[in-house]
Amino acid sequence: MENINALFHLNPEITHLNHGSFGACPKPIFDDYQKWQLELEQDAMNFFIHTGPKYLKQAREALGNFFNCKGDDVVFTTNPSYAINIIAKSLQLQAGDEILATDIEYGAMDRTWNYYCKKSRAKFIRQHISLPVKSIDQVVEDFFKGLTPNTKAIFISHLTSSTALKLPVDAICKRAKEYGLLTIVDGAHIPGHFELDLQQLDADIYTGACHKWLLTPKGCSFLYVRKELQERFDPLIVSWGYESSHPSDSLFLDYHEYQGTRDFSAFLTVPKAIQFRAEHNWAKISESCVKLILDNYADVCDLFGSAPICPVNATYLGQMCSIPVQTTDPIQLQFKLFEKYKIQTPIFVQDEQTYLRFSINGYNSQGDIDKLKNAVVEIKQTTALIDAKG
Ligand SMILES: Cc1ncc(COP(=O)(O)O)c(C=O)c1O
Repeated sequence: MENINALFHLNPEITHLNHGSFGACPKPIFDDYQKWQLELEQDAMNFFIHTGPKYLKQAREALGNFFNCKGDDVVFTTNPSYAINIIAKSLQLQAGDEILATDIEYGAMDRTWNYYCKKSRAKFIRQHISLPVKSIDQVVEDFFKGLTPNTKAIFISHLTSSTALKLPVDAICKRAKEYGLLTIVDGAHIPGHFELDLQQLDADIYTGACHKWLLTPKGCSFLYVRKELQERFDPLIVSWGYESSHPSDSLFLDYHEYQGTRDFSAFLTVPKAIQFRAEHNWAKISESCVKLILDNYADVCDLFGSAPICPVNATYLGQMCSIPVQTTDPIQLQFKLFEKYKIQTPIFVQDEQTYLRFSINGYNSQGDIDKLKNAVVEIKQTTALIDAKG
């Protein structure tokens, strides 16, 4: 059997249970990244003017094939924050307009929407989703309780950050369309984690990160915009692509792809990442990772005196899960797990609730989860950091 751990550069002295935040890039894909960087360094003039744009097109097409959309309907961005800033800045919101979201969105996205909404005196609505989630219908019903005549667009995570919940984005987008709303999906965690068919989902706008579960190097994400809407969005960085002297067929690509001198090598690794995943049958590896999550989620919750925040099945969970934690000091708890036990796992506070989230990828095993469980037992016995009365 293949030694998956040997494929990664990860420090073997650490138990890595946080793939979800920044991903980890296998060596063959990382080598591909450095190959592009070297080519750039050897002849920057040729790379930026001739070969680079062709390589970018190939990478966009590979991405489009993988997610079932046209290659020229996606642009690469360094991260989903960048992508959503492009959108939020150009929406031309009016005073009183509302963007309907949930109260379990990613913090950087909450901030982005708050910023642009404040500027135009629009409102960012964080609609409450009751936890534990009971059913898809419940999530959809909870969400649309926030709908008002002023709602202009919906913004929703496909898989949430601190709560690690897969949301029924297809049902929500379908209903939003019936109301004539613009649909914007934050799919940061979806590429390489769940099947994604952008045509079938039919969201107007979708962003995803490739450096998480698709296994590219960091700084590789994308923004998809439905063709008819593309010209609505100004470049976030105005550069040579604006009023271009050599325009392509697509204003969307010109506006968002040219940003002055920058190293876009990470974007070019997408074809290699897709090939790597096929060669190593990563879909099968993902399946066994999901199984580890499903087998262990309730047990880890139990150790914390809490309970799963959704039915424990693959409708709601992928390769991560979040445990509600009662702690006197979330920062100290995360620090302790790392300092004493060398376990990297994030602890998030969202509104009043603290969650410990752990992620599983091919380089993890049951042994890693056992280390987390043992550490939690010991921390409970030796400190007052965890209150697990439940
Ligand atoms: C739901 C969600 N959206 C977006 C992001 C990505 O954000 P960033 O732009 O900071 O990389 C993350 C990262 O973890 C996330 O969990």
